[in-house]
Amino acid sequence: MYSCIGLAFLLLLGCGVLQSDATVAEVLDQNNKTCIYAEMMVNFTVQYETSNSTLSTAEFVLPTNVTTAGSICGNKTVTPFLKISFGNGHYWSINFTHSNTSYHGDVFIFGYNVSDSTIFHNASQKGVIKVVANDTMPPVPMDHYYRCMSDDVFKQGNVTQTFWNVSIQAYIKDGNLSENATVCSADTPTTVAPVTNITTIAPVTNVTTAAPTTTPKPTPTPKPDKETYKVSRGNDTCLIITMGLQLNYSTSAQAPWEVKNIDPNVTTASGTCGNDTSTITLNENNTIYLVFSFAKHSSKTFYLKGVNVTTIVNGSAQQLGINNNLSYWEATLGSSYMCNKDQVFKVTDKLFINTYDLRVQPFNVTNGEYSTAVECFLDSDLSFLVPVAVGVALSFLIILVLISYLIGRRKSRTGYQSV
Ligand SMILES: *[C@@H]1O[C@H](CO)[C@@H](O)[C@H](O)[C@H]1NC(C)=O
Ligand SMILES: *[C@@H]1O[C@H](CO)[C@@H](O)[C@H](O)[C@H]1NC(C)=O
Ligand SMILES: *[C@@H]1O[C@H](CO)[C@@H](O)[C@H](O)[C@H]1NC(C)=O
Ligand SMILES: *[C@@H]1O[C@H](CO)[C@@H](O)[C@H](O)[C@H]1NC(C)=O
Ligand SMILES: *[C@@H]1O[C@H](CO)[C@@H](O)[C@H](O)[C@H]1NC(C)=O
Ligand SMILES: *[C@@H]1O[C@H](CO)[C@@H](O)[C@H](O)[C@H]1NC(C)=O
Ligand SMILES: *[C@@H]1O[C@H](CO)[C@@H](O)[C@H](O)[C@H]1NC(C)=O
Ligand SMILES: *[C@@H]1O[C@H](CO)[C@@H](O)[C@H](O)[C@H]1NC(C)=O
Ligand SMILES: *[C@@H]1O[C@H](CO)[C@@H](O)[C@H](O)[C@H]1NC(C)=O
Ligand SMILES: *[C@@H]1O[C@H](CO)[C@@H](O)[C@H](O)[C@H]1NC(C)=O
Ligand SMILES: *[C@@H]1O[C@H](CO)[C@@H](O)[C@H](O)[C@H]1NC(C)=O
Ligand SMILES: *[C@@H]1O[C@H](CO)[C@@H](O)[C@H](O)[C@H]1NC(C)=O
Repeated sequence: MYSCIGLAFLLLLGCGVLQSDATVAEVLDQNNKTCIYAEMMVNFTVQYETSNSTLSTAEFVLPTNVTTAGSICGNKTVTPFLKISFGNGHYWSINFTHSNTSYHGDVFIFGYNVSDSTIFHNASQKGVIKVVANDTMPPVPMDHYYRCMSDDVFKQGNVTQTFWNVSIQAYIKDGNLSENATVCSADTPTTVAPVTNITTIAPVTNVTTAAPTTTPKPTPTPKPDKETYKVSRGNDTCLIITMGLQLNYSTSAQAPWEVKNIDPNVTTASGTCGNDTSTITLNENNTIYLVFSFAKHSSKTFYLKGVNVTTIVNGSAQQLGINNNLSYWEATLGSSYMCNKDQVFKVTDKLFINTYDLRVQPFNVTNGEYSTAVECFLDSDLSFLVPVAVGVALSFLIILVLISYLIGRRKSRTGYQSV
């Protein structure tokens, strides 16, 4: 149905010579036109219990031979649904949702059939086990496709899914695949713009009429409202973050700084929790998407590793800033990080996030509640100076005692000698 050239445009792949062994899944509508297209490579690693009660690990790849039965193109009332079935009763599926101008992956499900003894040797369980995850695919403008060549690892309990060479498009119009890609953040190298000195040329004004420069006073943005956002794994809350959140950004070197409060009333949270990384995506009104990713330092502490802020302007995604090499909000695992003081965190030269009443726990959440808090340095006010002051006073006293002792000794000795 599609020419090789058309496909090559979409996937940057050649058709014969450069054929990769990525899995291609296509869903056709009733007019035999493509409505969902996916090309991807996936590695699955699944730990399962064997009949002798030991854990075994099965590793397998998404084969190229798949079917898409049960998939749904979607219409005004039903959202698109891609179901890729493969092997002996295994499947991988994804639900899409959309706003007026963009769409994104919502939930994906991997169902593996442990009764398949060719993959799960001697498994003690039988039947299909499902793992459900919230997708972290960023919003993709309508009539764009999503592309991520980099590895994207989802870990959930016993299952690890590694995706790479991914190209997906839903809501395809008239069967025509888009040529325009929205690329995942991992594919775009983090280049923090070099600091450049901008020499602003002063506007020519009549010297005589040069009035005192009254820069228009920017109306100060009020404090953002505080809110608690949660991410769940199964029925359990696995990540909690509470804060008032404000963005301070500039879209280009010349553009003025803009301050934007995230309004909790129109913001929803989603995300994934893993053993080593957890992420939360805040979606304000389908126009601003903020992804916070957390990682661990040598299984002792957690920290904020990545921030990615995208905004949808007139239907196309625009990146306000991304940095995956941060090291903020560090606290011991099993505790939460707290900072009541207003804080400014630099993401890039063009994006700062301001937090108010921050508290966060991205790992080891029990009963959906925060564990004990590790307070940030700033919160402790000057109280940390008290022990220092006491220490200084004490050592001063010791030195004083020592000096008077030495003087006393010398005096008594000279006194003794003079006798
Ligand atoms: C996927 O699995 C194959 C074989 O198990 C392995 O050779 C390959 O490195 C894996 N690729 C990734 C990206 O994990
Ligand atoms: C349990 O079974 C696995 C493979 O099914 C085997 O490698 C392992 O040696 C067995 N362990 C015991 C204690 O029998
Ligand atoms: C995904 O879409 C299918 C088909 O519309 C639906 O049956 C299923 O409940 C949806 N799943 C989720 C998690 O939304
Ligand atoms: C989406 O479109 C509908 C109808 O055109 C409109 O009422 C609504 O405000 C739009 N929503 C957004 C977020 O733009
Ligand atoms: C399955 O279990 C049997 C006996 O418990 C053992 O002999 C066999 O090696 C196991 N198969 C595999 C693939 O581990
Ligand atoms: C990903 O696709 C490219 C072609 O775009 C192919 O050359 C490459 O081998 C694929 N990567 C892997 C790890 O298979
Ligand atoms: C791709 O983007 C270009 C430039 O933004 C635009 O002219 C073109 O119409 C787009 N094509 C599709 C299929 O969206
Ligand atoms: C500069 O001065 C001239 C003559 O005094 C006047 O007509 C003109 O409006 C002034 N321009 C500005 C920008 O003030
Ligand atoms: C989640 O909650 C539902 C309803 O309360 C319950 O039926 C189900 O067993 C729970 N699942 C887990 C994994 O706890
Ligand atoms: C935003 O950032 C700019 C540049 O760092 C700074 O001058 C300004 O005070 C900031 N505004 C707020 C509200 O944080
Ligand atoms: C959010 O909703 C609350 C209660 O409905 C309201 O008091 C508050 O002003 C709203 N915030 C914004 C920014 O609209
Ligand atoms: C978005 O579209 C509106 C009207 O079409 C236009 O006025 C505005 O400048 C556009 N904004 C951007 C950032 O392109």
